[in-house]
Amino acid sequence: MSLAIDALLLERADGVRLLGPLTLSVAPGERLGLVGESGSGKSLLVQALFGVLPPGVRQAGGSISAFGIPMERPGTARDRIRGARMAWVPQDPLQALNPLLTLAEQLALLPSVHRKEPAPATLARLIPLLARLGLPTEVGFLRRFPHQISGGQRQRLCLAMALSCDPDLLMLDEPTTALDPLAQKAFLDLVLELQRERKLGFLWITHDLGLASRACDRLLVLYGGEPMEAGPTARLLSAPGHPYTARLLTAAWRQPSTESGYLPAPQDRPTGCPFAPRCPEGLGACATWSPWTGTPWDGLRCERPLEPGPRP
Ligand SMILES: Nc1ncnc2c1ncn2[C@@H]1O[C@H](COP(=O)(O)OP(=O)(O)O)[C@@H](O)[C@H]1O
Ligand SMILES: [Mg+2]
Repeated sequence: MSLAIDALLLERADGVRLLGPLTLSVAPGERLGLVGESGSGKSLLVQALFGVLPPGVRQAGGSISAFGIPMERPGTARDRIRGARMAWVPQDPLQALNPLLTLAEQLALLPSVHRKEPAPATLARLIPLLARLGLPTEVGFLRRFPHQISGGQRQRLCLAMALSCDPDLLMLDEPTTALDPLAQKAFLDLVLELQRERKLGFLWITHDLGLASRACDRLLVLYGGEPMEAGPTARLLSAPGHPYTARLLTAAWRQPSTESGYLPAPQDRPTGCPFAPRCPEGLGACATWSPWTGTPWDGLRCERPLEPGPRP
């Protein structure tokens, strides 16, 4: 497995649960989509994967391994993987880029650490990729600083940096949020093309089920920091079992990303199914009890799953 997460639990310092227990895996070359509303713990997951959880959040249980190496344990084994075999395209490029370094200097960073490659050699090697990503390749452009280029260019620069050491696995954390729909589609097509060519595996994290279903073979739907349903994309789209997945589907097709704003705060989440207070199918039991049924890659957590069949 490229990535194996087992019963991962992330908590606030005061013991309030933020994410999990979460189990998922990404096989070599596989495209997994992690779908959840804003505040469901998606970015924390990526931070946990890279061992950079923010202060105030801790891993309270479970394990994360990438290419067989435990990612919670600091050390050279982990450092060799981060940024090299496993790379990250961040949600907010402006925050992820160093404002004091030119574009050329940013691009040279990871290869200099992981391959001891001199900057000029890195740039020469990456020029075709930059061109392919639609970025200007002349020296004048590469001498600019992050704030001197457009949001779309910053996003593509981050993708180029993530690909700079030929990773096997890519984490994409809402990489298209800052882009308009046309640029979003172009970015998606580009990542899929690179994925096929380089046999990349990826974890595409998004609040947009429509986008995830175009990008991924398999989907995992989160609500309130907990997995609600997982399965092959085609099955989830044609026969969602969880009422929350069904609801996301209607939202995705009508108008993406209108589902936010209802998520209870982490400290206010019910003990049973977190979706129970909003669920049209809800039973009394859902508030206290809802076990996961099926396998971690094809199953759901619901007391009253929907019958397969056509939906409005
Ligand atoms: N440093 C922190 N300390 C305490 N709580 C945090 C911290 N960072 C994020 N959270 C909380 O964790 C939850 C998940 O956050 P996040 O992973 O950013 O969600 P998403 O990326 O899905 O929008 C939110 O409720 C957020 O308030
Ligand atoms: Mg986020």
